[in-house]
Amino acid sequence: MITIGGIFGRIGVLLIGYLALRLVLKVIVNLLRQNGKPLPEALKKVFQFVNKTHRLVGISAVSVIIAHFVLQYSRFNYIPLAGLLAGLALLLQAGAGLLMCAEKDKAKRQKFLVAHTVWGLILVAAVFNHRLKIFRM
Ligand code: HEM
Ligand code: HEM
Repeated sequence: MITIGGIFGRIGVLLIGYLALRLVLKVIVNLLRQNGKPLPEALKKVFQFVNKTHRLVGISAVSVIIAHFVLQYSRFNYIPLAGLLAGLALLLQAGAGLLMCAEKDKAKRQKFLVAHTVWGLILVAAVFNHRLKIFRM
């Protein structure tokens, strides 16, 4: 049965997919640039749009998952470990992204950037785990 808490969870998955698209596009754009290939105009536009909306979508994803957390907990009365890990990964990822933005020191910003990139992959894996129950948590 589809519940409102479940719908928030699904919206969260979609938003996190959109956030991860930034990393995918960044890799494609960097590969094209390294090979001296011109960027197709459409790709440039999509990349700019995804970059521009990234922060807002990130904050929306956090809000949607907080709603998911509250609704699922009040319905099921338990907190699945995999869900908790995915939720914590999302909060840390948002923190790293926003701190990176606020950081003035270039070397420190670079560290946040690496953390935000690597952590992004961990977040995607944690969401997969919560939905597919790979580790039976
Ligand atoms: C990034 C974070 C998370 C995402 C993307 C996410 C996503 C989802 C999705 C898509 C569903 C399936 C809903 C359905 O089929 O109707 C779900 C189920 C569920 N989620 Fe989450 N969730 C996250 C974090 C959490 C957290 C922090 C909790 C803690 C209460 C939680 C608790 C649950 C519960 C209890 C269920 C239903 C039972 C189960 O599958 O274990 N989730 N979640
Ligand atoms: C959880 C919510 C998230 C928030 C609040 C967030 C926030 C940010 C912020 C503030 C920046 C700095 C530049 C800008 O303002 O656009 C950034 C950059 C970036 N984020 Fe996120 N982000 C989130 C999730 C993700 C996820 C899930 C991924 C990938 C799996 C990701 C990948 C990236 C990448 C690749 C960059 C660009 C780094 C560069 O400049 O090369 N982010 N993010």
